[in-house]
Amino acid sequence: MHSLNSKGPILAFFCNWAPYRCYMDLCKSGHSFPYPIYPVKVMCTGRIDPAMVLFAFERGAEGVLIMGCKDKECRYGPGPGQAKKMAGSVHGLIHILGLEPERFSTLQYSFDEQNRLFEEMESFAKKIYKLKKSPLGV
Ligand code: FES
Repeated sequence: MHSLNSKGPILAFFCNWAPYRCYMDLCKSGHSFPYPIYPVKVMCTGRIDPAMVLFAFERGAEGVLIMGCKDKECRYGPGPGQAKKMAGSVHGLIHILGLEPERFSTLQYSFDEQNRLFEEMESFAKKIYKLKKSPLGV
């Protein structure tokens, strides 16, 4: 297994509401993430386009996470459904880039799930850094 710090970053799209609040709560309480993570805040995961995810991989992300609100907690209604459709498109395309499907994941949170978010991000990072370096890495 490679060191968690020896590879490129994980890019995490956080919905501004529940997931980003959990992430910020963790940061404020002193949690540190033992891997490079680039957080990108969006107002709703329904606004993420497959091209944004593929672009992140093309620019050297080792993995991409989509962190959204739970289905019934989205402020805009259809966001999680849109995000699931987007994720289906991405999963259908990333093999074309020569990437393993486990490099991309979508997760959903409520406002009070800081610990689960931390554990699942760490689990994702460990899985990613067991893989070879992304062939698109810089
Ligand atoms: Fe968070 Fe839509 S508002 S996923």
